[in-house]
Amino acid sequence: KRHLISAADLTRDDAVLILDTAEEMARVADRPIKKLPTLRGRTVVNLFFEDSTRTRISFEAAAKRLSADVINFSAKGSSVSKGESLKDTALTLEAMGADAVVIRHGASGAPYRLATSGWIDGAVVNAGDGTHEHPTQALLDAFTMRRRLVGADAGLGRDLEGRRITIVGDILHSRVARSNVHLLTTLGAHVTLVAPPTLVPVGVEQWPCDVSYSLDDVLAKSDAVMMLRVQRERMNAAYFPTEREYSRRYGLDGQRMAKMPEHAIVMHPGPMVRGMEITAEVADSDRCTVVEQVANGVSIRMAVLYLLLGGSDTALSAPARSEG
Ligand code: CP
Repeated sequence: KRHLISAADLTRDDAVLILDTAEEMARVADRPIKKLPTLRGRTVVNLFFEDSTRTRISFEAAAKRLSADVINFSAKGSSVSKGESLKDTALTLEAMGADAVVIRHGASGAPYRLATSGWIDGAVVNAGDGTHEHPTQALLDAFTMRRRLVGADAGLGRDLEGRRITIVGDILHSRVARSNVHLLTTLGAHVTLVAPPTLVPVGVEQWPCDVSYSLDDVLAKSDAVMMLRVQRERMNAAYFPTEREYSRRYGLDGQRMAKMPEHAIVMHPGPMVRGMEITAEVADSDRCTVVEQVANGVSIRMAVLYLLLGGSDTALSAPARSEG
């Protein structure tokens, strides 16, 4: 039985296999009929306890392109609002014959619980759990960087080796930052986190990356700059400078973007707050990959579902508890 809970569980071989498989899957999107029969007769459940646009829709598109049956579950409007537990929800999905459960949950560790509980037999894929991890986002980000910075047919050993990636903003609450630090360093990149001191997690010195409090100091040395959304719903006012102060020191505008090397790209996992962490001028520029990231997310999620449900034995490890 195999799951994808944390980017920290992926070896370099695992990660490269997923990226290479995603390249194959991307070719399907270029065909007149964008479908493979690989997962015909299998059922993928999207189990979303938190809001999502990109992740939920792209997992649905990915499963459908592989010919799986898809059941979409949203906690809003379900019996969760009547107090039903994760266990009873999971047992209900098991009774429906779920082969894979893609779960997004506000509680860090919920996908791990689901994968190790014995409540369901199917594969579990973490689609974002609290402030812990979002491994398929990191995979699609790495895929986007590889395509833009290295080339699509980069082989093992050359993937993002020595590339300098800067991740900017609300690191404290960001599962995207955590998964990216794990995955990008596994792939040989050098990661620098940039944030106001109040949005840097305690214990960050144990992470395999550098920390800076000045965006202006690192832009000229970055191959990719990944802007993060400030997650106000997960914080109280004490954490946060004013919006104006944040934009002035940590927002990416045209003037700052001009300090980046010519080849360097701007990334954002979405949803973006235009005007705060990123100006419209930057978000709509050719150097910004946000829409490409969404398209690449379908290929990555096809690769993950294919490898978990229908493909090679060597990819993706059994769940191991990772730091969050
Ligand atoms: N990047 C991301 O996880 O976006 P959604 O919340 O829209 O899924």
